[in-house]
Amino acid sequence: MMKTHTCGELREKDAGTPVQLAGWVNRRRDQGGLIFIDLRDRWGITQVVVDLELAPEAHAIADSARNEYVLRVAGVVRIRPEGTANPELPTGDIDIVADEIVILNESRTPPFYINRDESQVDEALRMRHRYLDLRREVMQRSILLRHKTVKFIRDFLEAEDFIEIETPILFKTTPEGARDFLVPSRLQPGLFYALPQSPQQLKQLLMVGGFERYFQIARCFRDEDLRGDRQPEFTQLDLEMSFVEREDVMRLMEALAAAVVKNVTPEKRLIAEPFPRIRYRDALEQYGTDRPDIRFDLRAIDISDIASRCAFPVFVDNVKAGLNVKCMRVPDVAGALSGTQLRKVAKDLENMARRHGAKGLAYITIPTDPSGELRGPIGKFFNVDLKLELIEATGAGGGDLLLFMSDRDEVVYAVTDALRNHFKAELQLDDDLLAFCWVIDFPEFIWDPENERWDPSQHMFTMPLPEDLHLLETDPGAARGSQYDLVCNGYEVGGGSIRIHDRAIQEKIFPLIGQSMEHAMREFGHMLEAFEYGAPPHGGMAWGIDRLVMLLAGSPNIREVIAFPKTQNGTDIMAHAPSIAEPAQLNELHLQLNLPDE
Ligand code: AMO
Ligand code: AMP
Repeated sequence: MMKTHTCGELREKDAGTPVQLAGWVNRRRDQGGLIFIDLRDRWGITQVVVDLELAPEAHAIADSARNEYVLRVAGVVRIRPEGTANPELPTGDIDIVADEIVILNESRTPPFYINRDESQVDEALRMRHRYLDLRREVMQRSILLRHKTVKFIRDFLEAEDFIEIETPILFKTTPEGARDFLVPSRLQPGLFYALPQSPQQLKQLLMVGGFERYFQIARCFRDEDLRGDRQPEFTQLDLEMSFVEREDVMRLMEALAAAVVKNVTPEKRLIAEPFPRIRYRDALEQYGTDRPDIRFDLRAIDISDIASRCAFPVFVDNVKAGLNVKCMRVPDVAGALSGTQLRKVAKDLENMARRHGAKGLAYITIPTDPSGELRGPIGKFFNVDLKLELIEATGAGGGDLLLFMSDRDEVVYAVTDALRNHFKAELQLDDDLLAFCWVIDFPEFIWDPENERWDPSQHMFTMPLPEDLHLLETDPGAARGSQYDLVCNGYEVGGGSIRIHDRAIQEKIFPLIGQSMEHAMREFGHMLEAFEYGAPPHGGMAWGIDRLVMLLAGSPNIREVIAFPKTQNGTDIMAHAPSIAEPAQLNELHLQLNLPDE
């Protein structure tokens, strides 16, 4: 080994020990006869002192070294002279007096600082030199956290009698709502593999295969539009269990989530245990989204009944026409504002609502003096009794702003979500608070008006809730699925369900989602056949590992916790992937390009 110790481990007790360290020059300070080098490796930073008098050759080499040069240093540990200790560094009480320095490799000047927290560096530049970016402390910490998280999950599941089984990457379409990445077969011209969007089918087949408790840290591939929390390839903790009901899977997964947080990031706090459970419908009605951030309590409340008795014609007519009137109470914003300021704030919020399709966003403010008037353009439409009812229903107090929405459900949901996100940005929420919740009772299907068919709300293998099974025939839109989603701080961290294990039920799903039996047999015949050979009842879940680690690390997006992520348009700008295929490769695959004109 080129090093006897790491750059993070030497302390006062090691004084006098001869050591060899190796790493990168984090920083170099030249004080004439003395050169100080902060030598960095994965474990930390140790200061090396090179004295011209004691080691002239080493001094000459240190003199030529620059940031990010790779050095090996031999020397002796010394307690730093009085007054020069560095309390910021774990190794700050000692330094190494160098006898010998070898330059193992030189480095060009990096295009950005490695030794400073440069959050402002252009991301494209960071990605182009990702190997340098990865040297930065924050990246080292995130990638290490990812390792620890996955290691903890593996150990936890092993203790629960799960076994890890790999499933193929070259497979067949496994729909999870995205496009497939296709891989042409050379040996069978004209045929294609699809990369798995998830191991969903394979894990179900492993249950038919009798493994009962399976998991995998699985790479998944989805050709879809990318966002901060989405990559074309990403990692799931994928898991499946036989002989379980929804409650069994949720209980185990909740225990795992809580254990991960407590063991891997003990500095984080869970907002509530057991995790709150929110019905899908309530999530939409109250938070406007099926992945609510419950760290803060802004909600939309249905006040249709009160509104139907007020004198504002829009609300009265809307309620008559079957639309709701919803109210969101925003505490403490209005009291301190002048009339003009309040109107400006309200105008901006109304414009935001209009961008989401709303016809308006009425508001009133509650007077700080209980006998005072309601302010705002529609205040006059609420008489004293209605005013009191409104205050009672919303729990409003003096200085609160009440915002009113009355439109189609989808619009009200979108506005509720947008308002929540707007106020969330102002609340400066604590990232050390992890607010997990379950969202349950999703509809089995969601209507796709464009294609005039039902789409699976999760995927086509989700079992409807037992009490709703009969609705498949009579009223599919009313059937709830056994799906459960794990949400944290507004992100969907994972999702799962109890699966269909009965061929007859599975066959009922295909026509509803617009698939002919012929197509279903071609794509999923193996599943249907497997269900005929004693498939056990089973269910499971998959977590987005990247999203989980992002939340644990407090990172702004999942690219920060993936060693080599893709950019927003799916490019690796370091290696230039995707790239052109050689004509010979295309020939071998019997492929011809048919590119658009530009
Ligand atoms: P689902 O499609 O909900 O379920 O995926 C599970 C979890 O994977 C994460 N995820 C992603 N992370 C990063 N980039 C993406 N493009 C991306 N897409 C999904 C999310 C999500 O909650 N087979 C089912 C699971 C099951 O039923 O067991 C499935 O894949 O955190
Ligand atoms: P108007 O009488 O049209 O000027 O509207 C008075 C207030 O009601 C304005 O603040 C509008 O933004 C608001 N408003 C109008 N239509 C709606 C609606 N459908 N939902 C919520 N607020 C509305």
